[in-house]
Amino acid sequence: MQNPELNRHVVASAHANIALVKYWGKRDKKLNLPCAGSLSLTLSPLTTRTELAFRAVGLDDLVEIDGTEADARARQRVLALVERVAPAPRPPVHIRSVNDFPTAAGLASSASAFAALSVGCDRLFELNSDVAHLSVLARLGSGSAARSLFGGFAEMKPGSASDGSDAHAVALFPKDHWPLSVVIAVVDAGPKPVGSTDGMEHTRLTSPYFAAWVDTVAADLEAAKSALRDRDFKALGQVAERSCLQMHASAMAADPGVLYFRGVTLDLIAQVRRWRAAGWPVFFTVDAGPNVKVFCPAESTATVETALQALPGVQRTIRCVPGSGAVAQWAEGSLPGNNPTFV
Ligand code: DP6
Repeated sequence: MQNPELNRHVVASAHANIALVKYWGKRDKKLNLPCAGSLSLTLSPLTTRTELAFRAVGLDDLVEIDGTEADARARQRVLALVERVAPAPRPPVHIRSVNDFPTAAGLASSASAFAALSVGCDRLFELNSDVAHLSVLARLGSGSAARSLFGGFAEMKPGSASDGSDAHAVALFPKDHWPLSVVIAVVDAGPKPVGSTDGMEHTRLTSPYFAAWVDTVAADLEAAKSALRDRDFKALGQVAERSCLQMHASAMAADPGVLYFRGVTLDLIAQVRRWRAAGWPVFFTVDAGPNVKVFCPAESTATVETALQALPGVQRTIRCVPGSGAVAQWAEGSLPGNNPTFV
């Protein structure tokens, strides 16, 4: 094989997203097909930036995450996606990915990571795939990543094809449809004890409430879409909080129960409800970790953020707004270590 072109690289980036109607459970583990749909908002500034380049023939693939070489599991997940798109035989690749927010802390880093990787691989191998196909590809890496391909509000379609070709997200409303803010109250930035993949599969297999949870999703998707269409904050909050709590209830009812909430998570939920009772436009959601995400209209962001920062147990807050979809482009120059002649 000829040495590939080494003096340029791809820079891809994608934002995390937060689900308003949650995804929790797969109907096919291997193809990562969800049991039901989901709906999310893509969040700026939470970003994964991924650089991709070819390496000189003879070198090994190199996968780096947040400045260190990826462990075997992460490496395998990343390279599985490369194998799926790359024409065989392929040159070795160097992929280095950096998150600007805590990895694996229930802040959806796998979503932005696999969305960036999908658009990045597509550019590296010059495949020019359509966005639905890129969303399928991202889904194979992580279910929630399928939604991060899109800016603004996106809906994941569970699809019905056995090969998963119709299980991808679609754009619902662009990022400027509704100026909402999401303030993340970080109560623990460390990795979660049970990751989403294992937590949802354990829930599916052992929770007597799993089927009941899946049954809630279709109606919640409709309610969320109509709330978004009408920019009805109260209605959106109602569906988002119930989807969140019903997802967690199904997980807690697994055997043994999967519990992502901490005491401080519940304290923050109670506080958000008190604020709402006092007339503040706020609602909460929580993913597979203890951190609480608080939605509010853009104009109340400073008030909500300051109030959250004053609460015991809140280590810091991250202010987010609706973000754009995943992008990738070529940049000049090699990545270090890819050409043995120059190292
Ligand atoms: C609670 O997308 O991380 O954030 O498909 O196994 O990678 P895998 O799971 P992942 O699960 C996300 C779960 C959630 C809810 C959501 O984002 O919809």
